[in-house]
Amino acid sequence: MYVNIAILKETQPRERRVALVPSVAPKLVKLGAKLHMQSGAGDAISLADSAFSDVVFTDDRHALVSDADVVLGVQPPALEVIDAMKAGAILICFIYADKEPALVKRLLDKKITCFAMERIPRITRAQAMDALSSQSALAGYYAVQLGATHLARVLPKITSAAGAIGPAKVLVMGLGVAGLEAVATAHRLGAVVEGYDVRPATAEQVASLGCTFVETGVDARGKGGYARELTAAEKIKIDAVLTKHIQQSDLIITTAAIPGRPSPKLISKAQVAGMKAGAVIIDLSAEGGGNCEDTQPGETIRIGRVTIVAPLNVPSLLGEDASELYAKNIEALLALMMKDNIVTLNWDDEVLAKTVLTHGGKMHSDESEHKAYPSNAADKAAAKAPIKAA
Ligand code: NAI
Repeated sequence: MYVNIAILKETQPRERRVALVPSVAPKLVKLGAKLHMQSGAGDAISLADSAFSDVVFTDDRHALVSDADVVLGVQPPALEVIDAMKAGAILICFIYADKEPALVKRLLDKKITCFAMERIPRITRAQAMDALSSQSALAGYYAVQLGATHLARVLPKITSAAGAIGPAKVLVMGLGVAGLEAVATAHRLGAVVEGYDVRPATAEQVASLGCTFVETGVDARGKGGYARELTAAEKIKIDAVLTKHIQQSDLIITTAAIPGRPSPKLISKAQVAGMKAGAVIIDLSAEGGGNCEDTQPGETIRIGRVTIVAPLNVPSLLGEDASELYAKNIEALLALMMKDNIVTLNWDDEVLAKTVLTHGGKMHSDESEHKAYPSNAADKAAAKAPIKAA
């Protein structure tokens, strides 16, 4: 008895990650998996098929998927993948359902049980599965490196016989996982770092990293530990404080996000116009439209003497480490559902109940109430039945 797991080669532009790496493969085998992978799945990160043991490779994507009990990917797959899957099989990847209505419809039609990695709850027990955090941390680190290469000056204080230069001033706006990693990285590189967020709890987190919090007096805590949108009055109050800090910075890294909403605009055109010559903004929120009014997602532009860099899919730029962490996140999730060489979905498990997006032709989209799914006893009993006993 075993569970057939198929790992896809990613097809979306700019996607370099892969959902399985060699160090994780034996762990899935131990859980009861038989692993099948699309040939060349790791090509984009120079990971050869031959680096994997315990994995059968195939060029035939259709056959790979049609035999699988579980399909693993990073990005939402093409519709043909869902069409080729067995009815009732499991799909695990990032989905972002709001942007993928056709895909969601297909998942429902095929009664695919889809676990969307962006839905892993932000609770302590699920930290090992939290792909949003693992990928964001890498993005925060990368933003500092990217900023450093665009600056025509150093981050730390450097003393030479000719005299001392630096340190640079770095401002990180938005102190979630990516922002705090950016603060820590810039601090380690010797910059003088300030952090700003609308959630007051982040003040202590920035201080614990040895950096300064920019206090605006606004508390915009929203639901589930996330931020809420600001009112017009709050924006004016914040701008009055922030403008000075924006204009004194050499490097600004922005990471602010509000779930399900476009990226909030933290830096106006007027503020960019007042920035130091040679200053750089790295906008990590380009995917949601950007945190700066001048940002052009996916582009590097110059506005006057300021450079604004807005990369897309940043974790993919660190594809090797991002794949490693993502594969570990997936392994931790699979460990919740694979036992004795079969998959058993226990909907009383909060992590599975909150992460599932579609199951049995029904949609689970109510994120605010966090109800277990399915909610009635009969459905729960049916869902607990093993889906595979090969
Ligand atoms: P995110 O990517 O949703 O947002 C990034 C940051 O932008 C947040 O800190 C948010 O407060 C901030 N932000 C939003 N609007 C802003 C504005 N107008 N001005 C300035 N900042 C603004 O955040 P992420 O990284 O997904 O984290 C979200 C929450 O989840 C945080 O509270 C974090 O601590 C929590 N978390 C909890 C975990 C756990 O296991 N307990 C694991 C990971 C995150």
